[in-house]
Amino acid sequence: ASPIPDSGAVLDWYDRHARILPWRVPPQDRARGIKPNPYHVWLSEIMLQQTTIAAVGKYFAAFTRLWPTVADLAAAPLDDVLVQWAGLGYYARARNLHACANAVMENHGGNFPQTAARLRDLPGIGDYTSAAIAAICHDEQVAVLDGNVDRVMARFLALPVPVREEKALIRARVQEAVPERAGDFAQAMMDLGATICAPRRANCLVCPLERDCQGTRTGNPLTFPVPAPK
Ligand code: ADE
Repeated sequence: ASPIPDSGAVLDWYDRHARILPWRVPPQDRARGIKPNPYHVWLSEIMLQQTTIAAVGKYFAAFTRLWPTVADLAAAPLDDVLVQWAGLGYYARARNLHACANAVMENHGGNFPQTAARLRDLPGIGDYTSAAIAAICHDEQVAVLDGNVDRVMARFLALPVPVREEKALIRARVQEAVPERAGDFAQAMMDLGATICAPRRANCLVCPLERDCQGTRTGNPLTFPVPAPK
């Protein structure tokens, strides 16, 4: 039987080491009932799909300065949105961004839906983004899997096959671990992948998952994830 992540240890780590990000509500504020702004979370998650956190910063700042609400973004001419998107690449995402803002205005009264299932119906919002928004904004207890989390789990499970062959197992193990603080847990797992269990360097000495990590036990965690055949 494969292990599941110790969500208590992960949350303790996150309480001490959460990265400070413009769209993020720190865990201490979240504990006091402060909720993230779904517009900010959505915008940042779409931008982060093709770009690093470092590069997204100034785009996120520009977008929220020009368009402080989803209503403002929906009302903007598409060409203005595309101009501001320049440099982020993959313009279909910018078109979907604008279409999504308009769908939120026209079909949802200007508020993002609160569940992953209903978020999933919006333009440009797939499995990852719907789960991320629902977990982060409303603590829906849903697994949030991105490339970072897939790598963390491939190592944690010492997965002997490429990630794409065991997506269901990864999802099931993460899902079993999701605690009440689902949003903090989701963000913690992504931060772990970005800062501790990074692609070319695993800082196992400070990792909250180390106790049950099969990747460290079976030798070198960096041998996981095993690459997909070309
Ligand atoms: N990468 C993409 N979305 C993220 C998030 N919400 N937290 C940390 N890293 C991320």
